[in-house]
Amino acid sequence: MNSGEEFMKRLISGVKPTGEFTLGNYIGAIRQFVEMQSNYESFVFVADLHALTIYNDPTELHNRIRELVGIYLACGLDPKYTTLFIQSENLYHANLSWVLECNSYMGEMSRMTQFKDKSKNKGNDSISVGLFTYPDLMASDIILYDADVVPVGIDQKQHVELARNLVERFNHKYGDTFKVPEPIVPEAGAKIYDLQNPTKKMSKSDESGKGCIMLLESPESAKKKIMSAVTDSENKIYYDPDNKPGISNLLVIYSSLERVSIEEVVKKFENSNYGEFKREVADSVANFLTNLQAKYEEIVSGDLIDKTLDESNEKVRKLAEAKVKEVFKKIGVGRY
Ligand code: TYM
Repeated sequence: MNSGEEFMKRLISGVKPTGEFTLGNYIGAIRQFVEMQSNYESFVFVADLHALTIYNDPTELHNRIRELVGIYLACGLDPKYTTLFIQSENLYHANLSWVLECNSYMGEMSRMTQFKDKSKNKGNDSISVGLFTYPDLMASDIILYDADVVPVGIDQKQHVELARNLVERFNHKYGDTFKVPEPIVPEAGAKIYDLQNPTKKMSKSDESGKGCIMLLESPESAKKKIMSAVTDSENKIYYDPDNKPGISNLLVIYSSLERVSIEEVVKKFENSNYGEFKREVADSVANFLTNLQAKYEEIVSGDLIDKTLDESNEKVRKLAEAKVKEVFKKIGVGRY
C-alpha cells in the first residue's frame, strides 16, 4: 500500500455480471480503472446485486462473478493498488440503499434514462421495482466509501449525478455525512457503438451478436466482426461521429487499444482505404484479446481470485460498517 494512502483521493466503480463482458466495458470503464489505480485509493467491485433487476440463471450468474474478477485482474487491476471485492459479500450496500430509497423521489427516479429505455415496451407487471430503484443501490455503492471519483462510461453518468444530488440532500437534512462524488468519463471511448448499428451502444444484449465484441470470444471471430462493421461509402478516414459513426467508432477503438490519440490514428490512415484500415483495427483487437485471454487463463487456473477477494473483505466491511452506523445514528434508527 502507498504510505500516503490516507491523503489520496478515493476511486470506486463496478461492472454488473450479466451476460458476457464486452469491449465496451473495457474501453469505457475497466481501462480507466487500470490507468487510474496507482493515483487513487482504488476500490473496484463486482456489482452482482445489480444483476438481479432482471432474472438470471443462478448458476450462470454465479460463474460470471468469478469470470469478472478474472477479467479485472487480467486487464491489469493490481491488488497492490486496487481493493477488489464482490458487492453482495458486503451486506451494508443494501442497508444504505434502503435509506437512500427513502430519501429519493419518484419524479427524479422516473427521469433516469436507463430506466426509461429498459422499461420501454414492457408492461408494469413485468418491470421489477428493483429496476426502478437500482440507481439508489448504485449511489449507495459509491457513497458508502466516501468515493471522490467514479470512472464510468457515458450511460452511467446520470446515475452518478443522481448520487451527487442524494448526497447534497442527505447532508443538508442530517448534517455533513457523505462526500460528493464526481463522475469521470473518458474523453474518447465513453460510448463504444455497435459495429452493425453504429448509432446504438455496443451492448451484451445485442441479439445478432455481430455488433458486439466479447472480451472472452475468439480473436478470429472478433476480427470477422470488425471486417464486417458497417461504415459509409466515402472511403475517406476521418473522425466525424455525426456523419461517419461507423468509421469514427473504429477510430476510437483503435486509438484506445493502441494508446494513441485519434488525430495520430487519422494521420496514420490518411492514405488508406477502408479495407486496409479495418484490417489494422481487426489485428489490434485480436492482439488485445489474445493477450488478455492468455492472462485470464493463467489467473483462473491459480488461486489469485480467492486470495484477492478474501484479503479485501475485511477492509471493505469495516469501512462500510462505520459509515452505516454513522448514518443510522444521524437518522435516528437503532440503539446508540
Ligand atoms: P454496466 O455493467 O452496464 O457497465 C459497466 C461499465 O462499462 C461501461 N460501458 C460502456 N462504456 C463505453 N461503451 C460501451 N458500449 C459500454 N458498455 C458499458 C458502463 O458505462 C459502465 O461504466 N450500474 C452499473 C454498475 C455499477 C456501478 C456502481 C458503476 C453498480 N454500482 C457504482 C460505478 C459505481 C452498470 O450496470 O454498469
